[in-house]
Amino acid sequence: MIKIEIVKDAGAAAKVAATHYKSLLNDKANAVLGLATGSTPIPLYKELLELHSENAIDFSQSICFNLDEYCDLPNTHRESYANFMYEQFYHLANVEENNRHIPDGNAHDLEKECERYNDLLSQHGPIDLQLLGIGRNGHIGFNEPNTELKAGTHIVKLSEATVKDNSRFFEEEEEVPAFAISVGMKSILSSKKIILLAIGEEKAKIVHALMHSGITTLLPASFLHIHTNVTLICDEAAASLL
Ligand code: PGA
Repeated sequence: MIKIEIVKDAGAAAKVAATHYKSLLNDKANAVLGLATGSTPIPLYKELLELHSENAIDFSQSICFNLDEYCDLPNTHRESYANFMYEQFYHLANVEENNRHIPDGNAHDLEKECERYNDLLSQHGPIDLQLLGIGRNGHIGFNEPNTELKAGTHIVKLSEATVKDNSRFFEEEEEVPAFAISVGMKSILSSKKIILLAIGEEKAKIVHALMHSGITTLLPASFLHIHTNVTLICDEAAASLL
């Protein structure tokens, strides 16, 4: 079942989402956090950093796992997710460096890297609080719509829709990496609690489809319907077709 909370705008969504982190980390300082990239979570990271600067939240014992990373994009590239996490969150959050996990999309052996990441997740998991955005095609992480979905961390060829959507971050569409590493549906669905953020009118169609869909691999986010603790936080624009 997906609970839905509709708020006015992106700022309000960030505030609501941040309260979940605050109460989790107050209860469990060494919580395992599943983190996401993309434009959607940026206001949330800002909010969390603000709470941190007021000493209202402490990440010093938290263990963080990102959902995905592009393949063959140097970590130093502005659009790598490693760089995104540093710029948006880690450079000001007191997460221990060895507790900041993200797949290595430049690993020499990518299959081995998937195994390593999967093992690490099993070792530390389940994730206490998984943050998700949703692609306009219904992907979560980089679990793209397909006839079947993968349980574990895997290499994925990005769909045309995702390459097109993500080209807004690059100068040219050709620069968008064709492949990525993504955690699979199992680690997402084994999380104790999931927050799905959807912001803006460009997400209205997929939010409507999600809330009216049965469970189908063609809309990977629809698998969230079988989880017992998912909250969809969306702004009025993303909820406008509901
Ligand atoms: P966005 O991406 O936040 O940049 O819209 C969401 C996603 O693709 O998961």
